[in-house]
Amino acid sequence: MMVNEARSGKSDVIHPPWLHLLSAFLAMEPSDSLISISKECGGGAITENVQNFIWDKCISKSSNGKGHTPYVKSFLKKVILEIESAGAVVIDELYEQLSIYMTTLKDDGLAKEDSRITKEISFLYPMDHVEARVCQSPRKLVVPLSCSLNMLEGDTGCSLWPSGLFLSEFILSCPELFSLKSCFELGSGVGLVGICLAHVKPSKVVLSDGDLSTLANLKINLELNHTSTLGVECLHLPWESALERDLQALMPDIVLGADVIYDPQCIPHLVRVIATLLTKEKSNSPNSSNGQDCSVDSSILKSEYEEFVLASMTKPVAYLASVVRNIDTYNYFLKVAQQANLRVVDITQNVKMYNFLPYMRSYERSSVRLLGIYCSFH
Ligand SMILES: C[S@@+](CC[C@H](N)C(=O)[O-])C[C@H]1O[C@@H](n2cnc3c(N)ncnc32)[C@H](O)[C@@H]1O
Repeated sequence: MMVNEARSGKSDVIHPPWLHLLSAFLAMEPSDSLISISKECGGGAITENVQNFIWDKCISKSSNGKGHTPYVKSFLKKVILEIESAGAVVIDELYEQLSIYMTTLKDDGLAKEDSRITKEISFLYPMDHVEARVCQSPRKLVVPLSCSLNMLEGDTGCSLWPSGLFLSEFILSCPELFSLKSCFELGSGVGLVGICLAHVKPSKVVLSDGDLSTLANLKINLELNHTSTLGVECLHLPWESALERDLQALMPDIVLGADVIYDPQCIPHLVRVIATLLTKEKSNSPNSSNGQDCSVDSSILKSEYEEFVLASMTKPVAYLASVVRNIDTYNYFLKVAQQANLRVVDITQNVKMYNFLPYMRSYERSSVRLLGIYCSFH
């Protein structure tokens, strides 16, 4: 396909890089990323064709109340500057919209720090993914998410974090791991992981967070994504006060958590919660092998990863995605986890991950580690 064609044939399907441009705009990616994708669409320049697409598919749709106006205004300013400095012609629609914003929206700084925005995260299924192969067409999952402009609002739980994106990609990459399983998430934040889980046919999904304003925002996101019909529940669960018997009653097959290892003070509580959730033997899980198929000669075991996979057949396991921002905090987590008889295996390199977010250039996938955890006690 030619780079300056957004669609092929009569179909309404938008193809990359145009699809990436639209997805990046809806996800509110930084203007520089949008400009760089715009140039790719135009084969190196923001041509009239590209400008028409930006106007038609991105800006005109957000100018009628949808979208966050200061964000759109800032992108519009930068894209016009970019076109002008390349000595090219800017289409009238872009100029006109900027002048409307300049008169109606005087100060970009007026956006209150605690104001909410709705980002749309588009997971674009690669064509070699089983779902895309079955449909024989480009497939995407679009998740609208209410987020805060203030990263620290709701104890960090009202923003999107790279580990949440990573864990979501992992779930969509390996749906079979979660299908018919009961899943429980700790520190769910905006709820992206839970919403992705709801799409891979688990038997149950329970999301939790210790912060009440985060939980309120999470519920908004679950409603926005119609997850109540998919059986997703929410729970207020501060790790510090979580009772053993309440945790034991949950009995999940899989525990998940994204970007929950960052505060050394919380780590002992987090580990206690994970250890309690993982201590029970599974009895009737669909993947449970009745002890027979799983009786493996330990000399055959080759790697920690294989041990983890084996454990996942008979025991509940946890998947935690984490960016190691402070190595001491990470090592402290490993130490406390070991003391609680938890085996923590870095499985980042072992799992087959698809890139569902090729347009999201602000997301550094390589900064995230995926940890597989199980109880080594039995
Ligand atoms: C960095 S955010 C990650 C949010 C989400 N998992 C994501 O990746 O987008 C950490 C989350 O853990 C929650 N959290 C932090 N400490 C907690 C605690 N002691 N008990 C329960 N939740 C906690 C926060 O409220 C927040 O939602």
